Amino acid sequence: MSQFDEIYNREGTRAIKLEYRDKVFGNSDVIPLWVADMDFAAPPAVLKALQQRMAHPLFGYTNRPKPFFEAIQSWVKRRFNWDVEQSWIEFSPGVVPNLGLAVQAFTNPGDGVVVQPPVYPPFFGVVKDFGRKVVENPLIETESGYVMDLEHLDKVTSSPDVKLFLLCHPHNPVGRVWSPDELLKMGEICLKNGVTIISDEIHCDLTLFGHQHQPLATLSHDIANITVTCMAPSKTFNLAGFSTSYMISSNPELLNAVRQQVMGYHLHMGNTFGAVALEAAYNDSEDWLEELKPYLESNINLVIQFLKTHMPEVKARKPEATYLMWLDFRAWKLNSSELKNFMVHKAGLGLNDGVTFGKEGRGFMRMNMASPQSVIEKSLSQLLTAYESMK
Ligand SMILES: Cc1ncc(COP(=O)(O)O)c(C=O)c1O
Repeated sequence: MSQFDEIYNREGTRAIKLEYRDKVFGNSDVIPLWVADMDFAAPPAVLKALQQRMAHPLFGYTNRPKPFFEAIQSWVKRRFNWDVEQSWIEFSPGVVPNLGLAVQAFTNPGDGVVVQPPVYPPFFGVVKDFGRKVVENPLIETESGYVMDLEHLDKVTSSPDVKLFLLCHPHNPVGRVWSPDELLKMGEICLKNGVTIISDEIHCDLTLFGHQHQPLATLSHDIANITVTCMAPSKTFNLAGFSTSYMISSNPELLNAVRQQVMGYHLHMGNTFGAVALEAAYNDSEDWLEELKPYLESNINLVIQFLKTHMPEVKARKPEATYLMWLDFRAWKLNSSELKNFMVHKAGLGLNDGVTFGKEGRGFMRMNMASPQSVIEKSLSQLLTAYESMK
């Protein structure tokens, strides 16, 4: 039995994935396979470090000393062969907050910010909420998966009011780990057109099926010079509740611009436990991650096989990274509310409606694979029963 087979009852832990079921789905009984966190216990080394800190009963203001930055440096070096200096790193309480801070740091109201739908919904929100203009460069669906529309990217970024590009790498929800070649071409376009890049790499550690993540900023000195990278241990080690992330940029001008925002809102204090958890995760939990990845792959394979056998018209591809699957139900020819209704009320599943990732996601659902295999099996069985009753 794998450690990831264990079922934890998350009721009563204030988990959003469970608590908001009624509000989001109108049904508090759906199997929650939506919010991107995992139903797995955090790594033992993280639990131990937190317990040790908890044993001391004072919880006043704390700082993040050298070991915090050393843990990040060592992690990105070991995982991505990226040499990062401590002065390039700035703490922040979350990657979505980073996106919002960057929008304010690098654009003025009315400026354009490029996003590539279908994409994680806050990519639209952080632009609109601060009165900037969302400029869409939709991904292209090809036989072999999603690719960037580089020609269109060149066109939209050549407009002088487009100042910023929010890259999602790996890309949620389609699971692409952008290749060095794609990233180079994309980076060259942004360089030529004077566009700063915020590279959200929060899913970078969760590469699957032999794929390798290369941080955008490692592609060339010039691309690094226009890039702020956002990373965190939150997705990788299931620590999202600790609100601990960081930004990296070798360009002091860019880093200072976002740092000013962090300081302006006094977000730099952070969270005592988040720093402890990050260090224990990065320094002592690599083995846990290496066990997690094949478990996720096996859940994903299960879904791929299930669809092939029982509903081959529903298309899905193995994600190159992330524990999220992007399922294409367009062949069923249901409209958005019919598909949602089917999932929630017939199949009893709480999935993310694809349309929340942009209109390109109409007819799709996003399913979270980071649950014990028995939960995934139960979900598939409920899906099959509902499907058979639809025929
Ligand atoms: C691409 C992406 N960025 C950011 C986040 C959330 O980051 P944070 O919780 O650090 O704000 C998520 C969570 O699903 C995500 O998928």
